[in-house]
Amino acid sequence: MKKEVVVLALGIFIAHVAAAQSSAAPAAPKPATQASSAAPAGKTAGEVMKNVQVLKDVPASQWNGVMAVIAGSLGVSCEHCHAQPYDSDTKKAKQTARSMMKMVREINANNFGGRAEVTCNTCHRGSLQPKAVPALWSKTLDEVAAFKKQQQSDLAANGQTSPPGGGPAPSLPSADRVFAAYRQAVGSSPWKSTHITATTAGDLQPSRTIDIDMVVPDKFLVRVPTPAGENRVITNGDRGWAITPQGRRDLASGDVENLRKNFADQFQPLKHAEAEATGKVTGTEKIGDRTYTVVEAHVSTGLVRLYFDTQSGLLYRAYSENSLADFASAGEVTFEDYRDVNGLKIPFSMTARTPGDRVVLKISEMQINLAMDPAKFDPPPPPPPASSQK
Ligand code: HEC
Ligand code: HEC
Repeated sequence: MKKEVVVLALGIFIAHVAAAQSSAAPAAPKPATQASSAAPAGKTAGEVMKNVQVLKDVPASQWNGVMAVIAGSLGVSCEHCHAQPYDSDTKKAKQTARSMMKMVREINANNFGGRAEVTCNTCHRGSLQPKAVPALWSKTLDEVAAFKKQQQSDLAANGQTSPPGGGPAPSLPSADRVFAAYRQAVGSSPWKSTHITATTAGDLQPSRTIDIDMVVPDKFLVRVPTPAGENRVITNGDRGWAITPQGRRDLASGDVENLRKNFADQFQPLKHAEAEATGKVTGTEKIGDRTYTVVEAHVSTGLVRLYFDTQSGLLYRAYSENSLADFASAGEVTFEDYRDVNGLKIPFSMTARTPGDRVVLKISEMQINLAMDPAKFDPPPPPPPASSQK
């Protein structure tokens, strides 16, 4: 079973930062959030949470991510299953969910060698009521093409001839060539530091302004003004802090790692370079009136599928799948509105979609390689004893 740190989509993460609570679960009540975010790396949910009976072995640092995947798979908010406090079992839905968790683990243990092949989403597909009756034919042109391709390969495997229209596949460029074109399109100015002002807004979140200072690869200062005062998140190497008007909190190492991945990977000009080594071109796809070359790769976090514009060479979309304990999740970021910043092509609009929300980030201002005072990223002073919350 893969146990990997999930890469949260950028926008969702920013929303968490802005929410002034744990960077891992804005919606969870105080006791739950503290339990998980204060959890030392390596502890399991069974050790840290009060009333976890089935998913005991899930790392505490991944707990809120797992809950978000479950909520997304059923198309509900946390409150559908949880009353206050979160460890109480008063809601029928929570009890049903627990027995479903047992059922899913048994299905996987008995049929799939314990691999997480069946998940909540296998049946629920974003709704509370799984449908036993198959949906009526309603395929898009791309899906019809995929269906015919599958039919041809099944016919060929049976030794039957293909139905007409199945000519040879068009020749595709290699992943190396696609990446070379991408590198060239992005530009090669040095990339050492950046200052970004942006707004984010989600389907479930209000619009916010954020201000980011970053020194590549692991120093960040993210500032989010809120009506109650400014929220800040600082990371410096492998340490990090969340500072709100109420006080300051050390980030768990998993959160620091997620932040680094989100910010460094999302804003750096050349994205997903890790995919170059193992990537394979799987085909082309039309989205709107443009054509994209699709590269699929298996990287440290899971599967990524990258869509490169066949004309400009630039990255349009990155779809990724990863596993959180034994739950599969997915995310997608679409990059648009590329503009020139010191000779680099940077997307000024990014739309992140996860099972839980869709968040759009729009950059209003970006400067790169400006001198930055390293003291900005220093640990904030410890909170005065009176306001320390525990
Ligand atoms: C479909 C129902 C369902 C949804 C939706 C759901 N949970 Fe849970 N949650 C559960 C169940 C069931 C458990 C107990 C799991 C077990 O016993 O292994 C649990 C346990 C928890 C716990 C541990 C509480 C304790 O101390 O024992 C926390 C914290 C939590 N959930 C947070 C969340 C958050 C945050 C969300 C929204 C992102 C969420 N949950 C959405 C069903 C749900
Ligand atoms: C094998 C298919 C299947 C899988 C896998 C599955 N479920 Fe279900 N689930 C169902 C069906 C079918 C129903 C509806 C039962 C009914 O209508 O009485 C249901 C109902 C539920 C309900 C009650 C719905 C409500 O109105 O509150 C919850 C909660 C739930 N499932 C949670 C989960 C969770 C969490 C998982 C993953 C751990 C999961 N299910 C996995 C088939 C499945």
